[in-house]
Amino acid sequence: MPSFEATVAPSSAPCEERRPDGCGVIIFGASGDLVYRKLLPALFHLFMRELMPEQFYILGFARTNMNDDDFRNRTREALSDAHETSDSAIIDAFLSKCMYVSGDYKDPEAYKRLQKKAASCDCDFSQKENKLFYLALPPQLHPTVVSRLSECGLTMEGEDKNPWARVVFEKPFGHDLNSALELDKHLCSMLTPSQIFRIDHYLGKETVQSILMLRFANIMFEPLWNQRYIDNIQITVAESVGVEHRGGYYEQAGCLRDMFQNHMLQMLSLVTMEPPTRFEAEFVQGERVKLLKAIRPWSERTLKENIVRGQYTAGRLHGSDAIGYHDEANIAKDSQTETFVGMKLYIDNWRWQGVPIYMRSGKRLSMRESEVAVTFKRVPHSMFGFASQHEMPANILVMKIQPNEGVDLTIHTKQPGPKTCMASLSLSFKYEEVFGIVPPDAYERLLLDCMLGDRTLFLSSEGVEAAWTVVDPILNYWRDHPENAPLHPYKSGSWGPAASDDLLLRSGHQWRNPPEEHGTHFKSLAKPLIVRK
Ligand code: BG6
Repeated sequence: MPSFEATVAPSSAPCEERRPDGCGVIIFGASGDLVYRKLLPALFHLFMRELMPEQFYILGFARTNMNDDDFRNRTREALSDAHETSDSAIIDAFLSKCMYVSGDYKDPEAYKRLQKKAASCDCDFSQKENKLFYLALPPQLHPTVVSRLSECGLTMEGEDKNPWARVVFEKPFGHDLNSALELDKHLCSMLTPSQIFRIDHYLGKETVQSILMLRFANIMFEPLWNQRYIDNIQITVAESVGVEHRGGYYEQAGCLRDMFQNHMLQMLSLVTMEPPTRFEAEFVQGERVKLLKAIRPWSERTLKENIVRGQYTAGRLHGSDAIGYHDEANIAKDSQTETFVGMKLYIDNWRWQGVPIYMRSGKRLSMRESEVAVTFKRVPHSMFGFASQHEMPANILVMKIQPNEGVDLTIHTKQPGPKTCMASLSLSFKYEEVFGIVPPDAYERLLLDCMLGDRTLFLSSEGVEAAWTVVDPILNYWRDHPENAPLHPYKSGSWGPAASDDLLLRSGHQWRNPPEEHGTHFKSLAKPLIVRK
């Protein structure tokens, strides 16, 4: 497929990153997978890029009995697993700032030990007593940990927030609307709103942030970004992995809670919200919430007809056998947990009235592929005799979230040759090719923002509530009317249940699958179009 060369214009605005003030990063759940796979490598990258504070320390806290050296050894292993720099001096300098305290999350004595260690780190690393607490823990533990921290005064801030204390909460925020509201009430009784950082790591992805840049830094999209010119929007987050070692958690969560309540709805809000006045937390969060509140409430009919759930069975993936969900570790043999959800929804406002939004996410799908595809309407009249208005292909803008991060825009042009001969081609660029770097991991951006106190890419309490308000009726309907919400089996390595394709076919649409797979729509664009006279 022809592509256009993209270069970074010399006039591109310079990027400036600020270095945060000195602080301690105190990680709860410091023996868990997320910490070694994501958080510590992200902190290390910031350190290498000289974006960690000049004075900082990292203090791990977990039940596992370890001392500072054990924690450093595990951290060193994690960095080498992540193929970090081989320069051992840099790694040693980073590790020298890593400390550890073990204890039970409920035990007040453990928090006294933590407090003592933090005080000695404050002193040794002569920083400003600012503290960032990161709760990489199951949500049931959040209230206990925050209570204990607040009882021993660790979350207390000084005058003018000097020193500051912030707490980062990993998703999920509650199990349903009521538990989320309950949790929020509890947290807000002990922390001020500006101390609470609710993370959705999708908002930290470069390509997700880039949705805003594409929409609001280019004049040419905004006039077309509405029901008059857009035919449908598709958001896909396809994963080829299964539940891996997280069966216990996933059985209770399922795909709807795990992916839609947060990542999918947040991406939808960025694609469809109104332009915020400024790129600041209050404005951006406010627009995201407004959009979520405009999603059309579900009715009995739409709950039944517009949502499909599925569960993967054994199949073939990347040339190997893949087991079914029921055979995964810690999964009940008769589990009814969904590993795939496809849905169609509408947004009730002037901009989006009548535009179908299709969203799907699932595990063990054919490939890892996340994208937002915006299909424009066809031209209102065809002046080319060879093709009627209905035969003229649509323009499609695809924002590729991961992998192969980039943007594709299909347009139609004259193919050199006989009098009227049209070709469809793609204007595309890949971030890696143009900028020469793989986009940094989402956690780098988000951890840096926490230390800087910038909440723009975090969720507000209203945002969490609005997202649960969309998802809660679906969960209740599935619970109360399982006969109307069958769990469709789909083969590992497929693109989900056929019922999810039917969801679109009924409205004359198709999922935009990657070319090497089903490729229906994409393939027809890949070859020069028919048309000549
Ligand atoms: C997490 C979900 O929030 O996001 C996982 O709990 C999912 O189930 C993951 O695999 C996907 O994130 P990413 O960054 O790999 O697309």
